[in-house]
Amino acid sequence: MVTVLDVNTPMASLLRLKFKVILIPVILVIVAFLHFVISNQYQIKNALSYATRPLWDEADGPKQVIPHYYAEGMRMDSHACQLHGWTEREGKTNIKVFDSVLMSSELDLLEIRMNELDSMVDNFFIIESNATFTGLAKETYFAKNRERFSKFEKKIVYSFLPGYVLAPGQTAWHVESGTRDAMTLLLRNHVHALPSVTRSLVIMSDIDEIPSKHSIDLLKNCEFGESIHLQLRNFLYSSLVSTAWYAGWHVEDQPLSSVSWSKYTVMNYAFALTTPDPGEISVVDSDQILLPQFVTAAHKHNVKASLSIGGWTGSRWFSSNVGSAQNRTAFVKSVAWLVKKYNLDGIDFDWEYPGKQGIGCNVVSPNDTANFLSFLQELRQGLGTGVILTAATDTKPFPDASDAPSADIHALGEVLDYIIIMNYDIRSTPSTGAGPNSPLDDKCAPSDNQFGSAQSALRAWTNAGMPPDRIVLGAPMYGRSYRVPSSAAFADDSNSTLASFPPYILNDQPTGDRWNGHGGLDVCGSYEAPGGSYAFWSLVEESYLNLDGTVKDGISYRYDNCSETPYVYDPKTEIMITYDDARSFAAKGDFVKVNNLRGFAVWEAAGDYNNLLINAILNGTVNGAPRTTKPLLQPSATAMSSASAHRAFSLPATHWILAIGAYYFFG
Ligand SMILES: *[C@@H]1O[C@H](CO)[C@@H](O)[C@H](O)[C@H]1NC(C)=O
Ligand SMILES: *[C@@H]1O[C@H](CO)[C@@H](O)[C@H](O)[C@H]1NC(C)=O
Ligand SMILES: *[C@@H]1O[C@H](CO)[C@@H](O)[C@H](O)[C@H]1NC(C)=O
Ligand SMILES: *[C@@H]1O[C@H](CO)[C@@H](O)[C@H](O)[C@H]1NC(C)=O
Ligand SMILES: *[C@@H]1O[C@H](CO)[C@@H](O)[C@H](O)[C@H]1NC(C)=O
Ligand SMILES: *[C@@H]1O[C@H](CO)[C@@H](O)[C@H](O)[C@H]1NC(C)=O
Repeated sequence: MVTVLDVNTPMASLLRLKFKVILIPVILVIVAFLHFVISNQYQIKNALSYATRPLWDEADGPKQVIPHYYAEGMRMDSHACQLHGWTEREGKTNIKVFDSVLMSSELDLLEIRMNELDSMVDNFFIIESNATFTGLAKETYFAKNRERFSKFEKKIVYSFLPGYVLAPGQTAWHVESGTRDAMTLLLRNHVHALPSVTRSLVIMSDIDEIPSKHSIDLLKNCEFGESIHLQLRNFLYSSLVSTAWYAGWHVEDQPLSSVSWSKYTVMNYAFALTTPDPGEISVVDSDQILLPQFVTAAHKHNVKASLSIGGWTGSRWFSSNVGSAQNRTAFVKSVAWLVKKYNLDGIDFDWEYPGKQGIGCNVVSPNDTANFLSFLQELRQGLGTGVILTAATDTKPFPDASDAPSADIHALGEVLDYIIIMNYDIRSTPSTGAGPNSPLDDKCAPSDNQFGSAQSALRAWTNAGMPPDRIVLGAPMYGRSYRVPSSAAFADDSNSTLASFPPYILNDQPTGDRWNGHGGLDVCGSYEAPGGSYAFWSLVEESYLNLDGTVKDGISYRYDNCSETPYVYDPKTEIMITYDDARSFAAKGDFVKVNNLRGFAVWEAAGDYNNLLINAILNGTVNGAPRTTKPLLQPSATAMSSASAHRAFSLPATHWILAIGAYYFFG
């Protein structure tokens, strides 16, 4: 059927009008869209190229992952090379190390970089332009601030590359690629002028990708091959995590305004609680008020705000919440909802404990560890990498289905930002005597008193595949008390030296400080006695310690050089307290430093007195501390070989190349 319409009829003009009404917005939308595409073409191309990278990029990723071993004072000899599967280099004295960077504006980072690498590097090659890769004019920051680097002047090889406005069809990739060619030329000219026996090690990376001095030392001394690609997260200059739990129920003792925010990078709010329903995580009324204030306060101080789920009383239903695929999905949604609702930067899982009974009435399954991992993987996928995911753990790796510590836990390290090993509340028994609350080591303790330590925990977790840079050492700002008869408390007749591991009276547990409450029924309905713990501040308040943390007259003190923890004893009350002080915290900081751990976490922020402990552990992580326990040789990072370095900079293959991070550009 054909319909003929007379265009002059009223019907036809009505249709024309309708057509216009539709057409005009359509044209507007198309114009707006084209405008968007044209004005954002760089970003769109970029997004497309990143998204499709797996399709066009060559498969030149890591062929082999090599564990990297490092200990303080380690000699770079054939043994060190052998540990990495390499041989010691011959003609070590003929090696020059060149560091090459393309300078944009990062003056501070460049200064940190040069200071870190100065002792290893022979020349710093710097190329700078007066325009960005996108062709916008910029200052020549290095040239303008060159006197700031006068300390390194003799080593600096600087080249200015005139910038230009991009021609049509040119992209930032062209400019970046051209800049790298200029660097190659600069390096080549320099290398060619060297005596022929000289070989060179070229470091190429972005300015903020700073390899550690000892990594370069190792590569200088060992025959690692033609090129090597350092895995950024393991060789990064420093990314110390300094964290604590903020216990909402102690807000009166430590209001948010008196938290020492500047000492921490992340703060964990304790606790949200599991419920029988995976679709619901409980945040009790008072926390619903305090938690948002906590997040605001943390953000105001540039500290990441994380929420801890679980804890001793809140872990009852973790097992069933992750017990089936359906429950895990519901639990993922609940966690994501909390992150969104409270504007959180992270979630800390304080499950006490997967595969093991905690308080007494937790749901427990032999599949807990496997289910927890599946849950975390789903959660990571849902939340992306921007949210910090952590888990507080026992000193032993989570148990497998047969209740033995898992032999391979590396998948957990891939999904979590880090684990926090709770190296405290370490067991004591009346028969073996009062032991340290938080031993750094227990190798020299009597064999029946080796209930776990930072050292043994680190060994166990790393042996199971957890990289040291995913491990945060948990440290207590409190001690545990025991009733020790004075006849047993001393090791000598003059009553001046405290005995180690003295027997104590089990059914005469001291009450502890005022934070312990009076005891009562727990969430399982069982009676729980007061815990007998003493926060560090309470040792000052209750006259064990002076205001500066030193020991009061009339109180006996012993520093146990095996566990690296102190004891105090009051003969009048017959109370012995094994705790942590500034000296033991400095030792713990040193332990974090020499083992290249990710950082430390203290329970709890309000436990300190006048920042004595937090200052000590922070100082230890930077400056180290004298210790009696020997550092354990630990795998501390991972190196990967790859051919991409040669592709990025085309240098003659007789020179070794070291690349850090990844380059996303064509050519
Ligand atoms: C950069 O410097 C060159 C030569 O010194 C000059 O010709 C050019 O205009 C400058 N470019 C910009 C974007 O300032
Ligand atoms: C899943 O969650 C429900 C509660 O919603 C619980 O009854 C059930 O036992 C859980 N499933 C598993 C396998 O734990
Ligand atoms: C643990 O997982 C295995 C394999 O998925 C399953 O067969 C078994 O029933 C689970 N056990 C429990 C107690 O849930
Ligand atoms: C040491 O303490 C014991 C037990 O309290 C006591 O009998 C003894 O007299 C004390 N010795 C000295 C030298 O004070
Ligand atoms: C920091 O540590 C160093 C090295 O152990 C020590 O000499 C220094 O006194 C410490 N500083 C403070 C403030 O504790
Ligand atoms: C600990 O101190 C004792 C007594 O002072 C000493 O004999 C021992 O060698 C020390 N142990 C260590 C590991 O330094």
